[in-house]
Amino acid sequence: MDEPQPAPQPRLLTPIALRGLTARNRIAIAPMLQYSGRDGLPTDWHLVHLGRLALGGAGIVFTEAIAVEERGRITHGDLGLWHDGQIAALRRIAAFVRAHGAVPAVQLAHAGRKAGTQRPWEGHGPLGEADRARGEPPWPPIGASPIPAAPGRPIPVEMSAADIATVKEAWRTAALRALEAGFEAVEVHGAHGYLLHSFLSPLSNTRTDAYGGDFAGRARLPLEVAETVRAVWPKDRPLFYRVSAVDEGGWTIEETVAFARALGERGVDVIDCSSGSLFDSSTANVRLKRSFGFQVPFAERVRRETGLMTMAVGLIVDPHQAEAILREDRADLIAIGREALADPQWPLRAEAELTGREAFGSWPVQHGWWLERRARIFAQMRAEGVAAP
Ligand SMILES: Cc1cc2nc3c(=O)[nH]c(=O)nc-3n(C[C@H](O)[C@H](O)[C@H](O)COP(=O)(O)O)c2cc1C
Repeated sequence: MDEPQPAPQPRLLTPIALRGLTARNRIAIAPMLQYSGRDGLPTDWHLVHLGRLALGGAGIVFTEAIAVEERGRITHGDLGLWHDGQIAALRRIAAFVRAHGAVPAVQLAHAGRKAGTQRPWEGHGPLGEADRARGEPPWPPIGASPIPAAPGRPIPVEMSAADIATVKEAWRTAALRALEAGFEAVEVHGAHGYLLHSFLSPLSNTRTDAYGGDFAGRARLPLEVAETVRAVWPKDRPLFYRVSAVDEGGWTIEETVAFARALGERGVDVIDCSSGSLFDSSTANVRLKRSFGFQVPFAERVRRETGLMTMAVGLIVDPHQAEAILREDRADLIAIGREALADPQWPLRAEAELTGREAFGSWPVQHGWWLERRARIFAQMRAEGVAAP
């Protein structure tokens, strides 16, 4: 009789090399704004929120979108890296995440025309007089062209050549601060209708200078930002770029493939494939029908046609679903967002589910040591026929 073959190591749980870094598995926690900062600084909330996600076993833990410029915040609750005083509090978080085995990763962002928004649970609309009265006044947003993100939203000030230079410099210095804070991976937020996406899409960019017009013109600023960040980010650390692979009719997957190729030539390592939200204030694409893993085809196509690594995201909720995406070579990394809010230990649960073993070796020892022993007691009780409660 044939010897039973050991089950293959789940790909989701296999370490992945990203330049000089190795993540312990292929699960990333997607960037998720908490809208809970004070004056651009994280609070204990952020430490506990990101800390418990690191304890939950993810390979990479992304911070939420962190603004490179004060006027590039989405809400008053956003975090920032626009001055040196913002480094120390983030360093504490990055150190905790790293100490618990995950790669601390930072997402850098500029809201562009979506700056000055209310927190989701405060309406998610543009800041107004009522917000001013409670100490959260609106501020004028900047953008590619004077086209608002939605009716009733402020008309952004069209960025001058000087503004473009200032914003690029803000990305550069924010990346340097992120490095000083101890982050080991960085992602440029180029999706969801924020500044860089609004340059790419002809629906929001009607400029007639070198930063508008054809594909090359519209892609110029996003590519320059990628180049700027790469230039200061160490060669042995990875650079991610989040795209909206398609939007509400202005930007296509074919353009995303060409854009991703150009990003790859500039040293971007992973294309994080999201979609949509050029026009509203949510991160949801209003036109794509929702289904589990609905954005995976974008990660698959970019990967296949560019040879770059991709990260799939969006309604990936089940470990077997995640494993199949990797095994079918549709993406290199899986990002989990809301499911990790529902279950911060999702990666540890995925390990048990995919290996069929309740093993606690990957758990923080403070918890795992006890659970391992309790599992043995349970096994003994089962053997003795002790009834379930
Ligand atoms: C609370 C919350 C905050 C988010 N904040 C960000 C963000 O800061 N940057 C970003 O690129 N996407 C953000 N997103 C989108 C997520 O990164 C992710 O792409 C999206 O939630 C889909 O994945 P999921 O179905 O696993 O949640 C956010 C989503 C949620 C639910």
